[in-house]
Amino acid sequence: MTIENVVLQEALAPRFGVVALISTALLGGALIGYPLAGATEKPISKDSAKSKAVVVKEGASLFRANCSPCHGLGARGGGRGPDLTSGRWTHGSTDPAIFRTITQGVPGTEMPANGFEDSEIWSIIAYLRSLAPPKRPIVSGDPVKGKRIFFESAGCSNCHMVNGRGGLLGPDLSRVAAARSISYLIDSIRQPDKELSSGMTDPNNHYGLPLVYDAVTVVTAAGERITGVARNEDTFSVQLLTANQNLQFFLKKDVKEVIHEHKSLMPPYSEDTLSARQLQDLIAYLETLRGSEEKGSKEDR
Ligand code: HEC
Ligand code: HEC
Repeated sequence: MTIENVVLQEALAPRFGVVALISTALLGGALIGYPLAGATEKPISKDSAKSKAVVVKEGASLFRANCSPCHGLGARGGGRGPDLTSGRWTHGSTDPAIFRTITQGVPGTEMPANGFEDSEIWSIIAYLRSLAPPKRPIVSGDPVKGKRIFFESAGCSNCHMVNGRGGLLGPDLSRVAAARSISYLIDSIRQPDKELSSGMTDPNNHYGLPLVYDAVTVVTAAGERITGVARNEDTFSVQLLTANQNLQFFLKKDVKEVIHEHKSLMPPYSEDTLSARQLQDLIAYLETLRGSEEKGSKEDR
């Protein structure tokens, strides 16, 4: 069993019924090894000497090695990246559009640019096209109730902005469903520390993303501890956005310590604070947040 598979199971296991469904679909898929049937009719590879099945198989192994850590086993989401089998393409659904997304990445997101050979990218596309859409894990929750939970009872909007409304401490969620998979969303709510948003602490992080959402504590010369999210940090200074949304600036030479906590400022929402039912409603609401999806895909048609 691969690592991703285990992670997925862990992520999906005991939360709620819907998820059991996804889990089954995923495992089923994993067991039968994503059969080569169903590849598109048109010759996606320019290399016509190779049979479609061979091309799809090459694409599958390239995908497993390079993409599944984020997009999940069988491209069904799970890590930081969205499900690529849902038939929704935020960045364009045509072969050339997908080709462009894969080569150039999506600037400003965690989707990296790639230096594959053209033929390799075509094989990945052939593979993606060969995947049957999942029996869509219908999130059975009620998005209207979910929206109320988000803005009222659970207080998510104290820290998160959606379409210009809400707080600044956490990431803007206006298009979170286009960017993330359902299992990632569930983890973000139940276990925020598990995978921090943009928490790439690798100093030579080659995706060029800032280390934004780690909780940072500054211990002042007087011994006071102030915790927040680092908005800017360099060798000499750090700027913290604190939980009450004050922006505070510190020179490192004036403080005792700057501690990167490697955990989230977001409180975990356990069953006690957010029931399985409420979680479903909330996810159903988050699933509606797809930013300018319509515009993106129309341009490419
Ligand atoms: C570091 C994580 C990461 C890796 C590795 C990664 N992706 Fe992505 N990918 C993402 C994220 C996050 C998005 C969503 C971008 C956004 O916010 O719109 C994305 C989006 C995409 C999209 C656009 C989906 C749409 O709705 O239009 C495609 C296609 C895609 N990735 C393919 C790939 C392929 C193929 C690979 C491997 C060669 C790959 N990705 C590797 C994180 C990743
Ligand atoms: C006290 C502030 C706070 C509250 C309240 C809060 N969050 Fe968060 N949230 C954060 C911070 C900070 C992050 C980034 C660090 C991390 O990944 O946990 C985050 C991350 C997330 C992410 C991951 C976003 C991504 O693209 O990686 C999601 C989804 C999310 N929160 C949803 C929610 C929902 C839903 C609620 C209400 C049930 C909620 N949050 C309540 C602060 C908060």
